[in-house]
Amino acid sequence: MAKCLLRVFAMGRTKICLPTNREAKATFCGVIPTVAVQRPGFEGHLDTQEREHCMYSQYKKMATFAGKGNDLIFRQLLEYKSFTYTYLLADPQTKEAILIDPVIEMAERDVKLVHDLGLNLIYGVNTHVHADHITGTGEIKKKIPTCKSVISKVSEALADVKIKEGDKIKFGKFELECRSTPGHTNGCMTYVLHNKGMAFTGDALLIRGCGRTDFQQGSAETLYRSVHEKIFSLPPDYLLFPAHDYTGQTSTTVEEEKKCNPRLTKTMPEFVKIMKELNLPYPKQIDRALPANMICGLQVLPEEAKTDAKA
Ligand SMILES: [Fe+2]
Repeated sequence: MAKCLLRVFAMGRTKICLPTNREAKATFCGVIPTVAVQRPGFEGHLDTQEREHCMYSQYKKMATFAGKGNDLIFRQLLEYKSFTYTYLLADPQTKEAILIDPVIEMAERDVKLVHDLGLNLIYGVNTHVHADHITGTGEIKKKIPTCKSVISKVSEALADVKIKEGDKIKFGKFELECRSTPGHTNGCMTYVLHNKGMAFTGDALLIRGCGRTDFQQGSAETLYRSVHEKIFSLPPDYLLFPAHDYTGQTSTTVEEEKKCNPRLTKTMPEFVKIMKELNLPYPKQIDRALPANMICGLQVLPEEAKTDAKA
């Protein structure tokens, strides 16, 4: 077959020559075109059965849910009542997956997505004890009993795994570095996926903003130090993914926030003054969310917490 009729894709150390549109049409009609499968030390034509097996196993390998050219499955999911982002990350090869900041009302959606993609959810990870919604980790653990809940030790919330500064959360070939970023709450963590240049900042840093510091052991001075020392110290091109956004934005970068964040570009005394004068209303769900989130690792949430969450 003339090489001009082929498009060649590199698949690790193996190359497969895929057919052009004309040949693909023949394939879809059940006719297997002649393809040359090239491996190191092997170049030649295979018989029809070998060709068919080889071709479709390669197609199958390519058909991950990571998207073209990617080796990480990544989904940003919205809960539209509290504008919370939940993040699904997975290794398409091993199928190990984690969810960051799931929300109880969306647990069914998240579990369905995990099943749809054939993933093995190993951790439900919280960035902190949330005040504006109830975590989904308890409900998810009921549906996927092998999933373990994760939260910082400092938060004093119940969970299967308690993490601290410098710990690593591993899934497949990936690992998240845990960075302690208190200030919004004393147990806030930022999770950094270095080999993809991504960080999940919870409420410590929002897009052009930050989490409030007027309750849950909040401290403007501590938050300022956390963001500058643990997040702004990351490489400028790292993508930052917050726990919420109320303006429809989905991500930012370290460089962008260092330049454009209206609060955190100020001096610490100016930042403290801004935070002190925010005069934000008392969070609507805090009285039911906090007690429920302090037991985020339990499989069975109290009935009252579940009812309140669905109200
Ligand atoms: Fe929060």
